[in-house]
Amino acid sequence: LDIGKKPFRVLITGGRGMLASDMAGTFSATTPWIIKAPGHGELDVTAFQSLKEALTHWRPNMVVHTGAVTDADLCQRQPELAYRVNAWGTANVARICGQLGIELVYISTCGVFDDEIKANTEYNPVTLKTHYARAKYEGELAVKEFTPRHYIIRPGWLFGGLPHHRKNFVYRRYLECFRKPVVLSAGDRFGSPSYTVDLAVKIRELVGTGAYGTYHIVNEGLSSRHEYVQEIARCFKLGTTIEETTSQQFPRVADVPFCEALDNFNLRLLGLKPMAPWQDALARYVHRLKKMLNLW
Ligand SMILES: NC(=O)c1ccc[n+]([C@@H]2O[C@H](COP(=O)([O-])OP(=O)(O)OC[C@H]3O[C@@H](n4cnc5c(N)ncnc54)[C@H](OP(=O)(O)O)[C@@H]3O)[C@@H](O)[C@H]2O)c1
Repeated sequence: LDIGKKPFRVLITGGRGMLASDMAGTFSATTPWIIKAPGHGELDVTAFQSLKEALTHWRPNMVVHTGAVTDADLCQRQPELAYRVNAWGTANVARICGQLGIELVYISTCGVFDDEIKANTEYNPVTLKTHYARAKYEGELAVKEFTPRHYIIRPGWLFGGLPHHRKNFVYRRYLECFRKPVVLSAGDRFGSPSYTVDLAVKIRELVGTGAYGTYHIVNEGLSSRHEYVQEIARCFKLGTTIEETTSQQFPRVADVPFCEALDNFNLRLLGLKPMAPWQDALARYVHRLKKMLNLW
């Protein structure tokens, strides 16, 4: 009875990014979907006309919009860039998906809450402390306005991807721990470390439900930056001392919240299984990264 049934087509924006590349790999390995993941150079979400032509031509069933300016300090220094790409660019994607009847998965951010140390649910009010957060949140509003069939996803502190990915926190900390006997790390910043591959698997599960809405999707457990780096060193079996300090040691242009931890509240309401603890996910990623680095 499947004869003549067209395959499900998925387009991922920002295709060369850390999350997009793991998502494309995971979807390709675990679904019959046809995946297209053009990079920024091939598909720029700020160019409305060419974006519309590309989506009209390829006609995906679903767009996963990961493309963004992800450096919060750069966004703080250049707010125009932050709003052009993260807010206006997302509105472009949402308008076109709305017009063409395409389902949209928008990857937002965990940095939309205040400094209180707790795992925020989808029902906690937002506090927008940085241009990055405000621009990503404006993207959420545009998605709600222009695309009825949408999922807004807020992930945690993401790890995954290839060593060359700019956002590869785990690889960078590995190099730092490998080179130095003592590494300083902030004990006053909290988040939910989360694996890109686990996120991709959960998104695949979520879009199968048709329960449109806003979802926090993180691996289980809240962690300080210090605990996170300690765990990275442990997974690589490095004897580096990870010394706890405060974030004053690492001055930033963007006043990012002290807490970016999330609770998968809506996923639980929907009845989807809890995510693996972040330590378990990190061990799986370090295993994969070691293979990529020939560290066996
Ligand atoms: N990393 C995290 O911890 C984290 C946490 C929560 C949410 N997120 C969200 O997850 C998504 C993916 O982030 P990531 O960590 O994979 O970051 P990433 O590696 O920086 O990926 C973002 C990609 O978007 C591309 N891009 C930038 N401007 C674009 C434009 N105008 N049109 C199309 N693509 C554009 C970038 O290309 P160029 O580099 O060539 O400009 C880059 O390849 C982002 O939406 C981010 O806000 C990330």
